[in-house]
Amino acid sequence: MTTLTLPPMGCGTWAWGNRLLWDYDDSMDRGLQQVFNLCVDNGVTLFDTGDSYGTGKLSGRSESLLGQFTQRYCETAVKVQRTEICLATKLAPYPWRLSRGSMIAAAEASAERLGRIDLAQMHWSTANYFPWQEWPLLDGLMDLYEAGKVRGVGVSNYGPKRLRRVHRRFAERGIPLVSLQVQYSLLSTYPVTELGLKEVCDELGIQLIAYSPLALGLLTGKYSDEKTPSGLRGVVCRQILPGARSLLDCLGAIAQSREKTPAQVALNWCMAKGTIPIPGAKTLEQAQQNLGALGWMLESGEVEELDREAAKVKKPMVQNIFQSR
Ligand SMILES: NC(=O)c1ccc[n+]([C@@H]2O[C@H](COP(=O)([O-])OP(=O)(O)OC[C@H]3O[C@@H](n4cnc5c(N)ncnc54)[C@H](OP(=O)(O)O)[C@@H]3O)[C@@H](O)[C@H]2O)c1
Repeated sequence: MTTLTLPPMGCGTWAWGNRLLWDYDDSMDRGLQQVFNLCVDNGVTLFDTGDSYGTGKLSGRSESLLGQFTQRYCETAVKVQRTEICLATKLAPYPWRLSRGSMIAAAEASAERLGRIDLAQMHWSTANYFPWQEWPLLDGLMDLYEAGKVRGVGVSNYGPKRLRRVHRRFAERGIPLVSLQVQYSLLSTYPVTELGLKEVCDELGIQLIAYSPLALGLLTGKYSDEKTPSGLRGVVCRQILPGARSLLDCLGAIAQSREKTPAQVALNWCMAKGTIPIPGAKTLEQAQQNLGALGWMLESGEVEELDREAAKVKKPMVQNIFQSR
């Protein structure tokens, strides 16, 4: 039995098909194919999506785009074999998904859009509202692995207590839990610092994926009180930025001294903490810049300085309501 090994950094695709929060429109698709190609060519071979991604009529769009991009890349390619690309999707424990069969059906629908699933993840834990619901769904996830329909299985938004229970259940069937995905950035240190998830993941041999590592773009330094993104992200920005000025100044200063950008430093900090960041990228320019987070490492003094500033932030990112303990 082989465990799926993930690269040091991946690419998130929540924005690909999401109009509500991310202003997606299909004129972006050509550019997104280029984002995909650039990432793969440079070793960023992990792509994270979800069966709940894509707003309204665009439901499933992120998975469909990833499926098309992978197929086109492999037809014309090039540097990287299909087997080196890891398409990771998250299956949502919707209230109407109650049986292990419903998880298998969900995975089949995702695989249809993606071409194949490499890593299937439970999108969130139902522990906070319907603790019993997730057990048959996790059994379904394990069935998928045993049937060879996916190369690995993981979970998302789980805290240490629940993670240990899930890990035990997987171990009883001899199935490795490949990854845990939580919101982790300089503006969301809670899951690792307060819940101690990194230590638990290391103990259990689980790879820790950091989602929203740029805090929805706030850590790129391009947003300010005067320039906020539209819609809901603008609200988040106005709530958080005033209490995070000192952190952003520190990020900017370290970036300048290293001739990097704040985004590159913020992503490198995630990697220095032993996590795998999966920044979302909407343009080739952003993807190119994010690749510059690879190939170097912040010194421990710089990491400590950033940690100190992160701890002083008055209002960090709101935690996912489904994050369990
Ligand atoms: N498991 C879960 O529950 C969960 C929840 C959330 C996210 N995720 C996953 O994590 C991935 C990443 O998180 P995220 O997309 O929420 O946020 P993020 O990675 O923190 O921020 C991504 C956004 O920041 C901006 N950006 C990215 N790189 C930039 C650069 N170099 N320069 C300037 N702006 C840049 C872009 O938006 P603008 O250009 O519009 O500013 C981009 O869409 C998602 O795509 C998804 O796959 C998982």
